[in-house]
Amino acid sequence: MVITLAKTAGFCFGVKRAVEMVENSLGELPQPVRMYGYLVHNEEVVNKFIKKGIQVVNSLERVRSGTLIITAHGIDLETKAELQKRDLFILDTTCPLVKDAQTRACQLFNEGRQVIIFGDANHQEIKAINDRINQTAIILSSLGELNQFNFDLSKKYGLISQTTQNTQKFKQAKEMLRRKIKDIKIFDTICLATEERQNEARELAQKCEIILVVGSKTSANTTRLYEICLAINPQTYFIQTKNNLQIEWFKGVRSVGITAGASTPNWVIQDVIKELAKSKE
Ligand code: F3S
Repeated sequence: MVITLAKTAGFCFGVKRAVEMVENSLGELPQPVRMYGYLVHNEEVVNKFIKKGIQVVNSLERVRSGTLIITAHGIDLETKAELQKRDLFILDTTCPLVKDAQTRACQLFNEGRQVIIFGDANHQEIKAINDRINQTAIILSSLGELNQFNFDLSKKYGLISQTTQNTQKFKQAKEMLRRKIKDIKIFDTICLATEERQNEARELAQKCEIILVVGSKTSANTTRLYEICLAINPQTYFIQTKNNLQIEWFKGVRSVGITAGASTPNWVIQDVIKELAKSKE
């Protein structure tokens, strides 16, 4: 059985940066240290930080002192302004590429365009972007929704996407909207890390008998990788750790491809490879 690991599997630049920012400053941060939501969408990474004494909070009501870590997905403006009034040290790990998507949305908004975001309305990244344009965005999460939406053709529009969006679906969305709307300006805000991972996953799914997508089901980019691979290869499995592997998947199989989300740590991927190697013996 040949095991091929995607070159792009694992931490992207933004996640690596966020994790290192916390690790490198942990000893010097005012106590207690809390993170607002998961630093990155991966339970293994977050549990490691919890063991080091960092608390995860989902409400900011009682957070009045110490350090608050803002996650790689960014934060909405109202919350940010509220936090700045408190006696808190803020460690903001927002990915620069998420900030870039926010800037692009503001640019379109300031040009008098109705902003359309192709992404998940419940995702923190999208909430933070929408907040910067006074919550005026039309947020569409699928090609079906986009196709059915009744656009006012007298308006000027602007389109951006979630940074972890499916590149092929966004391409279709762009084509669809260019046909429907006369005046539309488009910024492709899918980050390069996402694009590279998705392209490599497509190649792997075509050439391997089985695909393992490693990462958390709460991670948007890992879920996209799973959807992409599954559409090409029905023998695609979404696993969080080596513990989810099932021996019967591999009976008679000669090639396994492994990819992993941008928030999946290398040690989790290596554990999966070691476990698979054991089953070959
Ligand atoms: Fe940033 Fe892209 Fe990673 S937006 S957090 S580099 S998936």
